[in-house]
Amino acid sequence: IPTRIFLDPKDASKSVAKEIADLIRSKASEGKMCVLGLATGSSPKTVYSELIRMHKEEGLSFKNVISFNLDEYYPMEQDALQSYWRFMREQLFDHVDIPKENYFIPFGDIPQSEIGEFCKSYEAKIDSLGGLDFQLLGIGGNGHIGFNEPGSLINSRTRLMMLDHSTRVAATMDFGGELIKVPKKAITLGVSKIMQAKRVVLLAWGERKSQMIADAVEGSVSEHNPSSYLQTHSNVLFVVDQAAASDLK
Ligand code: F6R
Repeated sequence: IPTRIFLDPKDASKSVAKEIADLIRSKASEGKMCVLGLATGSSPKTVYSELIRMHKEEGLSFKNVISFNLDEYYPMEQDALQSYWRFMREQLFDHVDIPKENYFIPFGDIPQSEIGEFCKSYEAKIDSLGGLDFQLLGIGGNGHIGFNEPGSLINSRTRLMMLDHSTRVAATMDFGGELIKVPKKAITLGVSKIMQAKRVVLLAWGERKSQMIADAVEGSVSEHNPSSYLQTHSNVLFVVDQAAASDLK
C-alpha cells in the first residue's frame, strides 16, 4: 500500500485537504458533482479545518459536493452530543456552503426493523450517483475501517455491526468516561462500498495505530485486519505521521 509519512498530522492533513479541494474544483469545472465518502473521529478533524479555511480564504465551494458518511452509532439521536450528525455539522458542514440536502449520514434513530431497508437505500443512492469519487478513512486500533470490525468480509454490505470491546473502550472519553453509555452497535458502510470508491485515502496519527498500519501494509490480506483489504485497491494512499509509521520495516 503506497504510504506517505509526514512529520506531523497538520502538514499531512493539508496535503489531503488539497487533494480533496483539487477534486472538488476539477469536477466543478466539468459541471459535475463530486461524491465524497467522509469519516468522523479525531483523525480527519484537521483535514476538515483546512477545508473550511480554503472555503473561507480561497473561495473553495462545496455547492457541487454530495457526501456520504461512513457510519453512525446505533442507537443514537441526531442531536445527541456524540452523534456523527452533530460532529459533521460542527467540524465541517455548518462552516461551508454544502447544501443541506447534499449530505447523508446513516440514521441512528430508526427502528431496528427498518435498518435493512435503510442500508440498501444508502448504497443505492451512492450507486445512482456513479459511486464514491473519494473515500476518506481513519483506522481503528484494531484495524477497523468505518465500523467494519475484525471478521468483516471484503464483500460485506452496509449493515448494523456489533462494536468490538476495544472500539467501545476507545470511545468512552466521548461518553463521559462511562463504557456503559457507549452504544453497542453502529450502522456502517460495508467494506465492498469502500473498495468500490475510485480513490481511498486513509489517515493514521499516533502510536496507537502503528501496529495495524504495519500489518495492513506489510502483512497478509486478512479479515483479522479489515484495513488490509486495501492492499487489493488500485488507487489507495495511507497518510501517516511518524508515530503511526513507527512499526513499518
Ligand atoms: C469514523 C470511523 C472509524 C474511525 C476510527 C479511528 O467514522 O469510521 O473507523 O475512523 O475508529 O478513529 P480516530 O480517528 O478517532 O482515531
